[in-house]
Amino acid sequence: MLIDNHGRPINYLRLAVTDRCNLRCFYCMPHEGEEMIRLVGVLSEMGISKVRITGGEPFVRRDLMQFLWHLSELEGIKKINITTNGVLTAPLVPELKKIGINSVNLSLDSLDRQRFYEMTRRDELPKVLATLNALLEHEIPVKINSVIMAQKNDEDILSMVELARDKNVSVRFIEEMPFNGEGLKLENFMSYHKIIEKIKSKYPDLYKIEDEPNSTSYNYQIPNFKGNIGVIAAFSRTFCGTCNRIRVTPTGVFKTCLYDEGVMNIKDLMRSGLSDEALKQHIYQALQNRAKDGFEAEARRSTLVTESMTTIGG
Ligand code: GTP
Ligand code: 5AD
Ligand code: SF4
Repeated sequence: MLIDNHGRPINYLRLAVTDRCNLRCFYCMPHEGEEMIRLVGVLSEMGISKVRITGGEPFVRRDLMQFLWHLSELEGIKKINITTNGVLTAPLVPELKKIGINSVNLSLDSLDRQRFYEMTRRDELPKVLATLNALLEHEIPVKINSVIMAQKNDEDILSMVELARDKNVSVRFIEEMPFNGEGLKLENFMSYHKIIEKIKSKYPDLYKIEDEPNSTSYNYQIPNFKGNIGVIAAFSRTFCGTCNRIRVTPTGVFKTCLYDEGVMNIKDLMRSGLSDEALKQHIYQALQNRAKDGFEAEARRSTLVTESMTTIGG
């Protein structure tokens, strides 16, 4: 069992399988998929049992489905979850079901086509909604991730909440973090308190429900709603005390906190010819020097946060 220097068991790997560029052709890097399978295999022997596939956008990888099949065959990996923007996902949902994908988190910041376009710079809302419906139809548990910014899409909060009325979906509102590629200040920051206040103004009966262990979200129910509502204090970092996650970015950087600047490059280590045992030693060591929370991880950095979420995988 992998335990950090603060006594927290580590059993959750977030693996970013690609960064933003969808011309990162896998034909010229044929061993990348195999390397990731080897890494997850090693980590599963150390106690990782849940893997979340992130990006960039995972489905721009042409070999993603094949990779997921291989991943699903690894003993020890009990849950494979995916975070996706849903643009390319709808036609693949039946196969995701066959593979046994545990759940899908869908990034969706607005239900208004024009605002969706303004926020994403693409007119793809219909495809995302098709993915949502396909997931529900195939009974793959689905959560919606919505990053909320004041004066940008806080008006959409209440219509997003309505999604949970008739659909068995968890709608989660996320605080903005400074991972935007430029290190811009969070001028439109809206705290999770404010988000809850806004929801309560229309739904005063909103009540707290129990959260799953290691949950990033605080979850709530509205009477007679089929789904539920959540808030993720991603910037306030209120859930670090139960943090069970490590990350590997698309370039192979190993992170023990979302807010750290990376503690080693695991891909380079693997390519230098390390044995599985030696690899395990490096991973174990990294977990013995882990920041106690995202604030400590941020304070330890040599540079301010400027990287983009696509380079980290969220
Ligand atoms: P579940 O496994 O379904 O609980 O998903 P998740 O919330 O762990 O992952 P998801 O990819 O859906 O992330 C939703 C939001 O929470 C994103 O904005 C993430 O960047 C943020 N988030 C996920 N994990 C962490 C974390 O460890 N720390 C912080 N601060 N934010 C996180
Ligand atoms: N702050 C908070 N969440 C973000 N995401 C992307 N960028 C940011 C940011 N700057 C979210 C996406 C996706 C998840 C992986 O991270 O909406 O759902
Ligand atoms: Fe874990 Fe860091 Fe996220 Fe806190 S900010 S929950 S320590 S990854």
